Formats: sequence, structure tokens, C-alpha cells
Amino acid sequence: MKARENWGSRLGFVMAAAGSAVGLGNIWRFPYTAGENGGGAFLIIYLGIIAIFGVSVLLAEIVLGRATQRNPVGAFGQLGGRIWRPAGLLGVITGFVILSFYVVVAGWTLAYLGLSLAGGLDSTDPDLLGAQFVALSGGIWAPLALAALFMALVGATVGGGITRGIERANRVLMPLLFLLLVGLAVYAMTLPGGGAGVAFLLQPDFSKISGATFTAALAQAFFSLSLGMGCMLTYGSYLRPHERLGVATGAIISLDVVAALLAGLAIMPVVFAFGVSPEAGPGLTFITLPAAFAAMPGGAIVGPAFFLLLSVAALTSAISILEPAISWLTDEHGWSRGRTVWVCASICLALGVPSSLSMGAAPGLQIAGMSFFNAMDFAATNVMMPVGALITAVFVGWFWGQGALEELSNTSGVAPIWARGWLLLLRFVAPPALVLILLQSTGLI
Ligand code: PHE
Repeated sequence: MKARENWGSRLGFVMAAAGSAVGLGNIWRFPYTAGENGGGAFLIIYLGIIAIFGVSVLLAEIVLGRATQRNPVGAFGQLGGRIWRPAGLLGVITGFVILSFYVVVAGWTLAYLGLSLAGGLDSTDPDLLGAQFVALSGGIWAPLALAALFMALVGATVGGGITRGIERANRVLMPLLFLLLVGLAVYAMTLPGGGAGVAFLLQPDFSKISGATFTAALAQAFFSLSLGMGCMLTYGSYLRPHERLGVATGAIISLDVVAALLAGLAIMPVVFAFGVSPEAGPGLTFITLPAAFAAMPGGAIVGPAFFLLLSVAALTSAISILEPAISWLTDEHGWSRGRTVWVCASICLALGVPSSLSMGAAPGLQIAGMSFFNAMDFAATNVMMPVGALITAVFVGWFWGQGALEELSNTSGVAPIWARGWLLLLRFVAPPALVLILLQSTGLI
């Protein structure tokens, strides 16, 4: 078998992992979730949750990958025996589900990048822009072709391998992404009336805090850090066996949090300066923000910059979502990387077809009363990822336990006292919290 690749440098790993973490979740989900759930008060809870659960589960995935030098299926199997292999397989399948709807959104983003560059969004009327968005997303061929185009970009990047494909793309795209974020945030905060947006995002409103705030923050943290589907495990498996982990993990987490905050500071002032509504997701990104871009001075530059930012963020995340499946088929089944990439990309795209069509062309495509698109999103984010994270925490905390502790304290440059604290979190704190998000987000409590 061909030797497995390693990252070219630890910095390359950090960039790639941060590229995975910083995605649509930071840009179109975080600002709204924070604003709705009490602004600064939510932020304090979110940061606490990231520090406790985010760090511990992220480190668990990375250590598991680094120690085994295997894909998720092989990693669980190597340390836990055959019966644990399905835990890795769940991650692989979750990746297909996530990517199938992620590419649809990414396809719209490419369309809007093109439209904004060509001056095709030049209206301040949200009704008109709304109709334009419905016409695009509800179409048959255009959104599918765009999703296929995006998938081809993902395939071409991932097909280049770890250092020449994934690492190189992230080394170029991550600095670009942060440059765009900082530029947009600085510009947005100078807009007259933008201060109200900053206040929406940051001013603490403790009256909005309830039990649901904690679960919202937990779910946001796990999605944003790409946890619970073997993605960070797989990226960790390309580290050399004795690579130090403390600083790298801290850097990945900080970049993810900073990106989310910057996205909020770039978007909310615009929303408030132009009196549009701070809703989440497609409506905000493709309808209300374009209206604001058309009305603002310099909008002809800010608009394309924003959609470029979104496309870049989506690309660096999408390539990581495919990697667990690719590493599994190449490690365990001896497939060539090229063949694996195109097979996996085609499966995701095929699964994306009903998602895309359910946005308007075929509204009858529903599962359990949700559009196919929303059902995939729900299944992945609310069920499969929390289940995956729960299994990872229990596996590393309880089954691997002592071995994990030694792995972390002996060869990772993490002081033993921190390593012991980490194990306690994985054993006693993360599992009950994850069970709670699962029960809450599936509506069982
Ligand atoms: N973290 C990415 C985001 O915030 C999404 C993602 C989830 C990426 C799972 C990889 C794996 O958009």
C-alpha cells in the first residue's frame, strides 16, 4: 500500500482545520443565533461552552486520528475492535448527508458571486430580490449545474491530496478569507446607524437566557467546529505521530471564534444601518443583504467581496467534509485517491438533487413534513453530529481512557494536569450535555 500522506507543517494543519471549522455556520448562522439569544449574554455562554466542550471533543478527535494514523472507521476499529467500526462509518455517512445540502447552498453562493460582479443584483427592493432568489433556487437545471460546478471545485482540490490539494488551498484561501472578513467588518462598523447592529450582537440581555440558550449554543459550537463526524479525526490522522497538539488546538478554536465574531460585526451593522430584518440563513444572505449592498456607498465592491467570502468559506469546509469518506476508501479498501474523489463527489451530488429540487421545483419532495433539504440539514446537524460527538466522547473517555491520557500527556506537549482535566470532561461532562442537546434538538424534551 502507498504510504499515507502527512501535512507539510503544523501550520498547514491548523489552516486546514480552521478552514474546515470556518464556514457557512460562522457566517450565516452565528450572527443571527447570537443576536436572537441575548447578544453578549449568549456570547459568554458560547465561549464557556467552546472552552469546555469544544476544546475537549476537538482534542479527542485529533488525538484519536493522530494516534491511529487511520480514517474514522479504521481508527475506532483499531482501538476498540470490530464492534466500534460502525461509529466511524456513521461519520462517513454524516459527511455525505451534510455535503449534499451544503453544495446546494454553495451553488447559490457562486451564482450570487457572479450576479453581484455583473451588477445583476442592483435593486434595493427586497420583494424583487426575493423573487429573484426564489426563481434561482426553485429552478431545475441552474441550481443543479451550480452545485455540480462547486462539487467539481471541491473534487479538484481534494483530488490533489493532502499537501498539494487541501493544505495548499487552505494556505491561500484562509488568509484571503480573514482579509475579507476584517475589511468588511471595518467598513460595516463605520456605516451611520451601524452601531445598533453591534449592540444587537454584543450587548448582553440576560432576560433572553433560558435552558434553550444553552442547547442552541452547544449545537452551534459543535457544528461550527466540525465535530462529531470524523472530519477533525481524519485531519488529525495526517499529523505526524508526535506532533504537539496544545497550541494547534487553541489556534483552531480561536480562529473559529474570531471568524464568527467578525462575521457578526460585518453583517449586523449593515442589517441595522439599512433597516432590514436580521433573520438567518438564505433570506438574510440572498435577499436582505443584497438590498443593503445596493443601497450603500461602495456596494458594488462590498457585495462581490461578501459573496466571495462566503464561497471561500464554503469551499474550505466542503473539502473537509468529503475527507473522512475518502480516507476510509483509500486506507481500508485500497482505492486510488482520484477514483475515490469522483465516486464520493458523485454520490453527494446525486443526494443533493432531491435537496435542490425540494426548494421549489418539486415541493412534494418531503420527509416527515420537512422539505428534503431541511430534512437532510435536520438529520445531520440535530441528530447525526451530536450522536457522533457523544460516541467519540464516550469512546475516548471511557474505552480508550488511560491510553488516551498517556497519548495526550506523553507525546503531545500537554501538561499532565490539563490532560487529566480533559479526560474528566470527556467522561463526565460532555456525554450528559450531548444527550441533552440531542433530546432537546429532536424535540423529545
Ligand atoms: N464547520 C462548518 C461550518 O461552520 C461546517 C462543517 C460541519 C464542516 C461538519 C465540516 C464538518 O460551516
